[in-house]
Parts: sequence; structure tokens; C-alpha cells
Amino acid sequence: MAPRVPDLGVGVGLRVPHYRRVVDEQPEIDWFECISENFMVDGGKPLHFLDAVRARYPVVLHGVSMNLGGTEPLDEEYLRRLRELARRASPAWMSDHLCWNGADGQHLHELLPLPMTREVVRHVAERVRRVQGTLEVPFAIENVSSYMTFREDELTEWQFVSEVVEAADCGLLFDVNNVYVSSFNHGFDPTTYIDGVPHARVFQMHLAGYSDKGTHLLDTHDHPVSEPVWELYRRACRRIGPCSTLIEWDDHIPELEGLIAEADKARAVRDEELSR
Ligand SMILES: [Fe+2]
Repeated sequence: MAPRVPDLGVGVGLRVPHYRRVVDEQPEIDWFECISENFMVDGGKPLHFLDAVRARYPVVLHGVSMNLGGTEPLDEEYLRRLRELARRASPAWMSDHLCWNGADGQHLHELLPLPMTREVVRHVAERVRRVQGTLEVPFAIENVSSYMTFREDELTEWQFVSEVVEAADCGLLFDVNNVYVSSFNHGFDPTTYIDGVPHARVFQMHLAGYSDKGTHLLDTHDHPVSEPVWELYRRACRRIGPCSTLIEWDDHIPELEGLIAEADKARAVRDEELSR
């Protein structure tokens, strides 16, 4: 069984434009999620800010380039450096994505969807187990949004996600916005997805804003959380119970006050659903 992790409350993603104000002003935010790769450096300002944030807040490390679904061997040097970073930051847990990032020595800097087959379940689960054996803190994988499916698919997305986390015995970083984006793009019922994942394995939830492209939704993290995603978040809170939640905002990043307002909204929604 995946280790139990603490409910940290509602946090926001730590982004470069806010480093200085967060350290100087220490705003009322429950916790921060830090992008691992931004701090996998030998010294200098990023680590200075990370140490200062960590001294005041709980942090979680979130990676974007582990290539868990790829077919090339896991990058041992990357994992070693990630473990070093974890020793420094003592995150409550770490995470990366249920996707592939590249092949043939090329890193595409995208979170690419995987064929949802039992063979891929076994492949990814085995790699996640190896990662967990290397890192010294609990580890979770995140469901990504997608814009295409494979002819080879054997499972629904929620079956695929569930089977991987069970087989890997890891946590789930449940991105509610990604559930909605994929449900719109592929025409499935997002509530079935919310209900269909192993709730006891959810370490954390993500909320973010997408862009409506007319024919499809794009996971851009550049808007406030949309109304249908808030509704799904309410349902997820009822199903999962008290669970750390994070606002992700990566483009057209608002002032810190805007992020805090969105986190406060999530906290109010969460409190309302949990008090029912
Ligand atoms: Fe996310």
C-alpha cells in the first residue's frame, strides 16, 4: 500500500516571478510545489530561494522530465541528482507524470500520452518501482491531459491510471483539470473518471486553467480554474476526503495576490465539501 502522506492544505506552484516576494513577505499559503528541474543545479540563486522557502513552508518536488513511459533506460544520473535535491529540500513527497517525454536520445519537453494497454501498465509500473527504490521519499505519478488516443488502447484512461498506480504501489497526483480536458477532448464522462481511481492512493490534487480552442481544450495553465473543473473538484473532495490541493499557473502568471485568491477559493470549496 502506498504510504500515507500528510494533508498539507491548499498550496500554489512556486514560480520564478514570485520567489523574492514569497521569501520576503512570507504570505499565508499552506505549502509550495517546486519544479524539481528548476533546482537541479549546483548552487546559486535557485537553491538560495528553495532553502529560504523550505525554512518557512512544507514543499513537494514535482518533476517534468523523468520519461517514465519511455523505452530507453531511466536516466540514472538524473535520478541521483533528484535524490540529492530531495535530501536538501526534505519534500513531503515527489512526483512526475504518467507519460513519455522522448525517444532515441531526444527530449521533446512535452508530456506525451501513452498507449493504454496492459503491456504499458507493466512497463511503467516496473520503472516507477525502480524510481521508488532510488528516491528516499514517497512518490506519486500524475495523470496528463491528451489530445489523441491510440488504436492499441485496451483500457479506459481511469482504468489505465488505476492499474499503473496499483501495480507500481505508488501514489496518484490527481490532476482534476486534466481529467476535464481529456474528457472534453475524447468525449467521456469525467465523473466516471473521478469515481474510478483508487482514492486512498491520491497524495495530492492539481487545479489549473485551460484554453478553449473551440474544437478542443488545451492544458495551458494560463487561466483561472474553470467552473466545470470546480464542480469536479467538489466531487473529488467528497470521494477522496482531506487531500493536499495545488493551484498550477505557468503562463500569464498573475501577481501573487491573484494566486492566493485562487488558493483561498479552493480552500473554501474544500472546506465546504468536507464539512457536509
Ligand atoms: Fe498538473
